[in-house]
Amino acid sequence: MVQKMDSIVLANRPLGDAELGNFRLETAELPQPGPNEFLARTIWLSLDPYMRGRMNDTKSYSPPVGIDETMEGGCVAEVMESNNPDYSVGDIILDRLGWTSHGISKGIGVRKIDPIIAPISSNLGVLGMPGLTAWVGLNDILEAQPGETIVISAATGAVGSLAGQLAKLKGMRVIGIAGGYDKTQYAINELGYDVCIDHKSASLHELRKQISVAAPNGVDCYFENVGGKTLEAILPLLNTFARIALCGMIAWYSPEATKTAGPIPTVWGAILRQRLRVRGFIIFDHYDRLDAFLEEVAPMVSNGTIKYKETISLGLSSAPQSFLDLLEGKNFGKQLVRVGNDPK
Ligand SMILES: NC(=O)c1ccc[n+]([C@@H]2O[C@H](COP(=O)([O-])OP(=O)(O)OC[C@H]3O[C@@H](n4cnc5c(N)ncnc54)[C@H](OP(=O)(O)O)[C@@H]3O)[C@@H](O)[C@H]2O)c1
Repeated sequence: MVQKMDSIVLANRPLGDAELGNFRLETAELPQPGPNEFLARTIWLSLDPYMRGRMNDTKSYSPPVGIDETMEGGCVAEVMESNNPDYSVGDIILDRLGWTSHGISKGIGVRKIDPIIAPISSNLGVLGMPGLTAWVGLNDILEAQPGETIVISAATGAVGSLAGQLAKLKGMRVIGIAGGYDKTQYAINELGYDVCIDHKSASLHELRKQISVAAPNGVDCYFENVGGKTLEAILPLLNTFARIALCGMIAWYSPEATKTAGPIPTVWGAILRQRLRVRGFIIFDHYDRLDAFLEEVAPMVSNGTIKYKETISLGLSSAPQSFLDLLEGKNFGKQLVRVGNDPK
């Protein structure tokens, strides 16, 4: 029997919010690895907010996914056949195969995974790109210091949940912003946030009031993941010389949502008057910090000091709906798709 592979391609570009009709499932014969290549089967696929940007045909830090091309994404996969001397059948790897059940790779930028340290899926979350983003954002971008007050939006997500725990370990006052009661309680009771505020049940003014009560000495650092109402609420509460790590702005990833965004002069004025340091960062510029990050964080994940949560959907075909759910905040922790079984 000829073995098949499934892939999810970008069928067309979203006109407003992304929707299921933007994706298409395709089936093809399993490809054979060429010289120096290997064939791998996907076990876990990572779904990440940046993928929404790849669906647009606009200039960005990475080119968009082409129409009829496989959606891109990070995967934990098992090598099935190999013509590459550096990779053997059975190796568990981290690769960017995309939204696909199988993929061919030359091994460039691929990392071998040690399944002893932590469950292999964690290499897409707390010990992967989102985890590195949290660590770099806190240490290198914000230069966060003990005793300071930090606000972290999307506080229980893949990035936010690690940023919050690391900030607490540093001895900071840590205030989270998350969507819904369950997430705020998890942030406080499990992740150790001092306070976590529900942005969904509060108006802009209520949110600002609640943050100001939680931060009686003002806010020194803002780990910005969302933009939108949360950013507007925080701006006047930032101390003079406060720092913002501009990591993401998920509330504005849909062009529709930007129509209700506050005026630029409000933001510009705050940066000027409060002498803010705002630094955008994209994690692929910071992979030289991977070893230092893993050296510090992997043992804490291994021994349970650092906690993490995953939302798992089953089967590659569930990826489009799970991705739309992620954009609406229906994920709780790192959003993953289980595409294949764990290795035997
Ligand atoms: N700069 C980089 O290199 C880099 C790398 C990785 C991630 N990021 C960015 O970091 C942010 C978090 O990424 P992640 O992977 O950790 O995702 P995540 O937090 O696990 O999931 C996204 C979360 O964003 C929140 N959200 C969605 N729509 C929102 C809205 N309209 N207003 C407020 N919050 C909203 C939801 O949390 P609630 O339910 O709590 O609202 C949702 O669960 C994203 O903006 C992402 O693009 C940037």
